[in-house]
Amino acid sequence: MNIVLLGAPGAGKGTQAAMLVEECGLCHISTGDILRQAVKNQTELGIKAKGFMDAGELVPDDLIIDLMKERIQQPDTAKGVILDGFPRTATQAVALDTMLAELDRPLNAAVLVDVDFEVIVGRLCSRRMCKQCGYIGSVADGPVCPKCGGEMYQRDDDNETTVRNRLNVYEKSTSPLIDYYRGCNLLVKIDGDRDPRDVYTDIKEVLGL
Ligand code: AP5
Ligand code: MG
Repeated sequence: MNIVLLGAPGAGKGTQAAMLVEECGLCHISTGDILRQAVKNQTELGIKAKGFMDAGELVPDDLIIDLMKERIQQPDTAKGVILDGFPRTATQAVALDTMLAELDRPLNAAVLVDVDFEVIVGRLCSRRMCKQCGYIGSVADGPVCPKCGGEMYQRDDDNETTVRNRLNVYEKSTSPLIDYYRGCNLLVKIDGDRDPRDVYTDIKEVLGL
């Protein structure tokens, strides 16, 4: 099963993907996570991407499409993928269609996790993540990861100014994909402003998992 997780920054894509991976064994590909790793390792990609990410802008399509072409051919993707944060533009969506067609794999659904923008601003300004295991939590977790004991940190782009720009960029460049996937008969919309476990239950149900 191959799924696109659509939704604004902070809608809960990473949170839902982690649950799907744990229970259903799908392969999680988050372009944001890959880019943050590249920034940390100061690779050529990371150096090119950092300025865009810190400003809440999209990294150019050609860089993202190249990284995804390589990632989606890795052996661990054969069991099915959850794409989190990709595609984010019409150009990326068309490129994904081509990549999947070449691999002879269908896209089964585009799941839109729908959350009001003001709710999102509050979530992202209080989000904290674990440096060690990637656990996604909040300031309420304190400085130590409740899962592995690692150090919790705040992402550089989780400040209100950048969050609001990310939401504007989402509205302008990514939200048109909702109609794109509706037109392909693949769109499923889920109310993401509920307990994460209830959101997860709905996602599994619509996917028949
Ligand atoms: P990326 O890392 O993808 O960030 P994003 O899309 O902005 O999404 P987030 O990771 O912020 O939110 P999420 O939906 O995963 O929410 P989460 O589960 O963490 O991208 C970062 C940057 O990289 C981009 O700005 C861009 O520069 C670049 N980039 C990445 N992909 C790109 C692409 N394809 N093209 C171009 N550029 C690209 O949850 C958020 C918070 O809410 C957490 O604290 C969580 O605990 C909490 N929460 C989750 N669910 C719930 C719930 N149901 N109720 C209450 N709280 C909840
Ligand atoms: Mg995320």
